[in-house]
Amino acid sequence: MSSFLYRSNPQAHFAIKCLLMLISMHMATLAAANFYQNADITWGDERAKILNGGRDLTLSLDKASGSGFQSKNEYLFGRFDMQLKLVPGNSAGTVTTFYLSSQGAGHDEIDFEFLGNSSGSPYTIHTNVYARGKGDKEQQFQLWFDPTTSFHTYSIVWNPQRIIFLVDNSPIRVFNNHESIGVPFPKSQHMRVYASLWNADDWATQGGRVKTDWTKAPFTANYRNFNINGCAKSSSCQSSSTSTSSSSKEEWRTHELDAAGRNRLRWVQAKHMVYNYCSDKQRFASSVPAECKRSRFL
Ligand SMILES: *[C@@H]1O[C@H](CO)[C@@H](O)[C@H](O)[C@H]1NC(C)=O
Repeated sequence: MSSFLYRSNPQAHFAIKCLLMLISMHMATLAAANFYQNADITWGDERAKILNGGRDLTLSLDKASGSGFQSKNEYLFGRFDMQLKLVPGNSAGTVTTFYLSSQGAGHDEIDFEFLGNSSGSPYTIHTNVYARGKGDKEQQFQLWFDPTTSFHTYSIVWNPQRIIFLVDNSPIRVFNNHESIGVPFPKSQHMRVYASLWNADDWATQGGRVKTDWTKAPFTANYRNFNINGCAKSSSCQSSSTSTSSSSKEEWRTHELDAAGRNRLRWVQAKHMVYNYCSDKQRFASSVPAECKRSRFL
C-alpha cells in the first residue's frame, strides 16, 4: 500500500511524511519536558505533586517531612535542564536540590543545592563534584536576580572532557577532566537525576545559626520543564557513538566555552562567587588540590 502511494503520488507521500514528522516532533517535545514520563516521586507522599499534565512539579516541606523525585532513567553523560522557582520569603533552613548521582560505594555526584535564607537575604547556590566517593570541590555563588519570583533555568552539562554548571545559560562553573594529573573524574558510572526540598537548619543558613520558621510552613519549591538530552542506560546510545547527523540535541557531547562564555564565566566568578575551595588556604594548607593549580576555566 505505501509503496503504491510512493510511486503513484509523490505529493501525497510528501504530505504524509511532513505530517508524521510534525507528530513525532510534537511527541519528542512533550516527552522531553513531561514529569509523568521523566520522573518518579520517591518520597514525601502528597507533598510532591505533578501538575498541569506533567509540565509542573511542586515539592513541599513541613515539620514532618520534605519531599523529592528522581528521573526514571540513568545516564552516562548528557545535558540536564531544570527550571526552578525557589521557596519565597523566609526560606531559612530549607535546602532545595537538583543533582546527579550514581548509587553505591565510591559514588559520583554533580550537585546544585539552593540554600535558603531569611527574608531579604540572598540564597546561596552551592555546587560540588564527587568522583569515586570523594567530593570537597565546593564553589558557592549568589545570584544576580531573585530566584523566588520567577522561573530560572539551571543546567548541568556533563561530557567526558568537562562538567559545566549554567544558570539561564550563563556558565557559572567549569570542572575539567584532570585525570591526566591524577584527579578522579566521573565518567564510568551512570547517574540519575534527583531533586528534593528538605530541612537542613542544622547547617544550611548562616552556618546553622538561623533556624527554619515552622510557622511559615509548608514551604514550596516549583519545578518546570525538566529536560534531558543524554545517553540513557536503557537506550542503545553509546558515549563513543559519533552520529554524523549534527543534531543540536547532541551538542552536550562536545560542549565547551567559547570566548563569550569565558567572559561571562569570569564575570560570574569575579562578582558572584562567595566561596571557592581552590582559594581556601586554611582548609588545604598543606596541599591545594592539584586541579586548582591549573587555570580555573580553560
Ligand atoms: C544569607 O544571608 C547572609 C547575610 O546576607 C549571608 O552572609 C549568607 O551567606 C546567606 N546565605 C546563607 C545560606 O546563609
